[in-house]
Amino acid sequence: MRNWRWVFTMLLYVGVVLKIGALELDRAQQTERISGSAGDVLEDDPVGRLKVFVYELPSKYNKKILQKDPRCLTHMFAAEIYMHRFLLSSPVRTLNPEEADWFYTPVYTTCDLTPNGLPLPFKSPRMMRSAIQLISSNWPYWNRTEGADHFFIVPHDFGACFHYLEEKAIERGILHMLQRATLVQTFGQRNHVCLKDGSITVPPYAPPQKMQSHLIPPNTPRSIFVYFRGLFYDVGNDPEGGYYARGARAAVWENFKDNPLFDISTEHPTTYYEDMQRAIFCLCPLGWAPWSPRLVEAVIFGCIPVIIADDIVLPFADAIPWEDIGVFVAEKDVPNLDTILTSINPKVILRKQRLLANPSMKQAMLFPQPAQPGDAFHQILNGLARKLPHDRSVYLKRGEKILNWTRGPVGDLKPW
Ligand SMILES: *[C@@H]1O[C@H](CO)[C@@H](O)[C@H](O)[C@H]1NC(C)=O
Ligand SMILES: *[C@@H]1O[C@H](CO)[C@@H](O)[C@H](O)[C@H]1NC(C)=O
Repeated sequence: MRNWRWVFTMLLYVGVVLKIGALELDRAQQTERISGSAGDVLEDDPVGRLKVFVYELPSKYNKKILQKDPRCLTHMFAAEIYMHRFLLSSPVRTLNPEEADWFYTPVYTTCDLTPNGLPLPFKSPRMMRSAIQLISSNWPYWNRTEGADHFFIVPHDFGACFHYLEEKAIERGILHMLQRATLVQTFGQRNHVCLKDGSITVPPYAPPQKMQSHLIPPNTPRSIFVYFRGLFYDVGNDPEGGYYARGARAAVWENFKDNPLFDISTEHPTTYYEDMQRAIFCLCPLGWAPWSPRLVEAVIFGCIPVIIADDIVLPFADAIPWEDIGVFVAEKDVPNLDTILTSINPKVILRKQRLLANPSMKQAMLFPQPAQPGDAFHQILNGLARKLPHDRSVYLKRGEKILNWTRGPVGDLKPW
């Protein structure tokens, strides 16, 4: 009896999938404009709204580091390098620091990779301190505000907390010298010590050309209901389980490994990008940090992101209507994921797909070379422009000091 009910339910599910597939064919490339302020903000042009001064640093803070390991150009933290290149030739750049609204320090703190290509954040605090020391002694602008009109790109797992394990990151907190600066970071979680008010949350870097080269015809039916490739357990770093992804990925595997609606596995096939374009829902669960490149991939490939990461702060959340394009599932509700997703009305699914088909949404997720209007570089500038003018209170009185140069772990104080 139970088996029969299962088969019946399955047929119903498959029916829904096919129906959506068919409806999709009808829509033939329809897209929907984002209504209201979100869409308008997404298309803002930052040029003329802010001026950025780029500090010139010795190349050991940026170019030399990259020369040592060109893999830094393709990993998910590469935005720090591309943002530097972008700003150098951007019309918002000013060579006159006296007229600058924002100051940018080009220091590549994520480009220290293990042989396997994993970025290590252990040298970042010393490097950052060293760079700040340098700009504060060679130019008068840092001391004027102690960094309140400076922004830094810190795309690490937990931003300027500079550790990839959450517990350690929380223990460290945001590097003291960056407490007054604006942080542009991939990490975003509400009420977390590693995300301070006024930070700008950005997408992780995903290679635009590579993704472009895997595009399949947009009217290809989406015959996969739920798709996921990635780790469920991280035995190396979390041998007893439960810490990695706060158990959410393990719950996905344990509940749905045998469910035919779920195409999930640890193996990354060569058709990974194509498969996302054949899927209706793409799981975007937290890993060690709440975000992963899957968020970007899902948007680019029009697969509805199923965001499983409680309290996540999503990239450019003031410009991208994440609630409309994605599905949010609480970590504790993962065991009901099948019911949650199969009970979404096909009309709602189609609307999300139409919104996802909007090119401006995809553009905002990417750091293309060369830059293009509306891309992630421009969204970052929009975010900085929206924070202007600076409040008068950011300017310190002559001789006033708020930050403490010697605060923080002793190890961070060693010269870099
Ligand atoms: C800024 O303040 C630091 C620390 O007090 C000091 O060492 C430095 O000389 C000051 N910079 C300038 C340009 O006056
Ligand atoms: C700065 O921080 C150090 C280390 O925490 C502390 O010993 C020192 O008293 C602080 N200085 C001031 C002026 O608060």
